[in-house]
Amino acid sequence: MKVRIAPSLLSADFARLADALAMAEAGGADLVHVDVMDGHFVPNLTIVPPVVRALRKATRLPLDVHLMIENPERTLPEYLDAGADWVSVHVESTRHLQRCLDTIRRGGAKAGAALNPGTPSLMLASSWLDLDYAVLMSVNPGWGGQKFLAPSVEKVRRLRIESREAGSSLAIEVDGGVDSGNAAPLAAAGAEILVAGTAVYGHADPAAAIGQLREAASLAARV
Ligand code: DX5
Ligand code: ZN
Repeated sequence: MKVRIAPSLLSADFARLADALAMAEAGGADLVHVDVMDGHFVPNLTIVPPVVRALRKATRLPLDVHLMIENPERTLPEYLDAGADWVSVHVESTRHLQRCLDTIRRGGAKAGAALNPGTPSLMLASSWLDLDYAVLMSVNPGWGGQKFLAPSVEKVRRLRIESREAGSSLAIEVDGGVDSGNAAPLAAAGAEILVAGTAVYGHADPAAAIGQLREAASLAARV
């Protein structure tokens, strides 16, 4: 199984996002992860739809937009209209998960549901048919550079089993504290998309860092 690498712009220099995109492309990234925070669902504030629109024009890579916002159903259309290719909403943030996922697919994007570390994977049990991917947070969302929560590996393994038993082929994305030390166990457990902020943009050579993550993930077969 090929593991996809998604550098997170949250750890890039916000004054040089075009350079960050170019480095992601040079390193062979598969997606670019865009963290949207509203100051309510999480304390931090980050990217808004006009920035997503500008990013869309500046790269050929698919934009994986992670919405850490309350009631995402209110502003989802703006992110879709701005050109998001993949969009995830947190199950903890909405009373209308199915409606959100349906809106995302109708908008032509891949639909994802994100789970905080404390939220059990069974929260996805009614959504298999509506999901293209699940985002398992391996830190509490809000900031980059946090420590990877080790129980996340087992959560990936469990979700992989549950989704297969349900006949779902959703992709599992892991987000938070991912580095070349945990990439192999995550991939071995069934993670297909690895988001990495600090491990890529905190590295002296972000393009090389992407290669290192891919290399580490490819060792999964030997874990
Ligand atoms: C955290 C964000 C992550 C973050 C990951 O709330 O959702 O995408 O950018 O950054 P690192 O890889 O530094 O944990
Ligand atoms: Zn994220």
